[in-house]
Amino acid sequence: MPDWTRFYRATEGRPPRGTLLRALDLLEAEAPPGLAVDLGCGAGRDTCELLRRGWQVLAIDGEAEALERLKARCDLPHGSRLETRLQRFEDPGFTLPACRLVNASFSIPFLPEPAFRRLWVQIFAALEPGGCFAGQLLGVRDSWACGDGVTAFARPGLDALIAGTDIVWLEEREEDSTTVRGSPKHWHLFHLVLRKPKTP
Ligand SMILES: C[S@@+](CC[C@H](N)C(=O)[O-])C[C@H]1O[C@@H](n2cnc3c(N)ncnc32)[C@H](O)[C@@H]1O
Repeated sequence: MPDWTRFYRATEGRPPRGTLLRALDLLEAEAPPGLAVDLGCGAGRDTCELLRRGWQVLAIDGEAEALERLKARCDLPHGSRLETRLQRFEDPGFTLPACRLVNASFSIPFLPEPAFRRLWVQIFAALEPGGCFAGQLLGVRDSWACGDGVTAFARPGLDALIAGTDIVWLEEREEDSTTVRGSPKHWHLFHLVLRKPKTP
């Protein structure tokens, strides 16, 4: 499993994720920025971009260090549109506000499957019609796709999960590379931008 401290150090200051940028281009072409939730914000590479572009952001992470690093990066005018919440997604009291965007870059697979499925339902209930989900899910051949604490999908399972959403971007990618610690790792990822239909 990941070493988050090392991950934050290695990734803070890196550019925002492509999935987030794709969702923002779509949503900002239609209406001014609204409320976005950044699930598993980490050191804030996506949250900072959302703030820079005028969004109000609720950034949630289960690690205090992530939120401390994020708050250290974002200075006032921008910071006044930022709310942070230290909470694990699987907490029984976890709720999400109504929002136009839920961003979850490399963050929500780290849940046992029942908790993942509860969160997935919560995400699409929170999204306004026409709102977007952006993020990554793990494929079953990913090196981290084992054990009770991770949820991963084969393509048919992924297709079933996202049925009923409008697919803006779906890309399945596999490659051998390394983690931020330099350990060898097989990546099997689904990059996703999904839209909640405007009409039910
Ligand atoms: C791989 S990092 C990604 C951070 C950031 N989104 C990015 O793209 O750089 C995953 C983040 O999700 C958080 N996270 C993972 N599982 C979580 C859970 N079950 N509840 C709350 N936060 C979680 C971790 O603490 C970590 O900060």
